[in-house]
Amino acid sequence: MQEYQVRDFLLPALEGISDTSVKAHVELYAGYVKNFNAITTLINTLATSNDTSSTLAIAELTRRQSFEWGGMRLHELYFEQCEGGATALSKESACAMAINTQYGNLDTLIAQLVRTGMMRGPGWSIAYYDAHAQKFHIGFSEEQHVGHFASLPVILALDVWEHAYLLDHGTQGKRAYIDAFFKNVNWEVVEKRFAKAQP
Ligand SMILES: [Fe+2]
Repeated sequence: MQEYQVRDFLLPALEGISDTSVKAHVELYAGYVKNFNAITTLINTLATSNDTSSTLAIAELTRRQSFEWGGMRLHELYFEQCEGGATALSKESACAMAINTQYGNLDTLIAQLVRTGMMRGPGWSIAYYDAHAQKFHIGFSEEQHVGHFASLPVILALDVWEHAYLLDHGTQGKRAYIDAFFKNVNWEVVEKRFAKAQP
């Protein structure tokens, strides 16, 4: 099976999030890719070994496989959002119109993402879109593999693990980091995800 590759991100200097923090965060992302590949290989090796004593090990590895996957894929979505530099949401876009229909304005959607991001514990504040019901859903994925809205595409992913803000803002700096994050979002990326989410 072909292994997943670590991606490079063309990130500009970010406002309120230092290059040092970004570099450490991208390295952490690479660890998820490496560990997803390693767990996948190990499960396959144990599963074909005919060693029945491997059953429990395979079960626990399987539980953690989606953790590594979430760390890999959500960080890709996260860093992509800042590629190209901050760009405002186009008021004429279908994405903006859907946000306005459901929330009244973008600030209200962001406020819900902030509120969700401020929940205690490591995780991700995520906006999903259900194109069939034409509704956004805001969820908190505990760690990165729990609490997802199954099958719904991720429109925006906000990392609220401590590692995302500790270096720049300290242990009490989650809110300052979240505010900084939203200054760096390239909303064109979000618009493209929304367009891709259509049936
Ligand atoms: Fe992270």
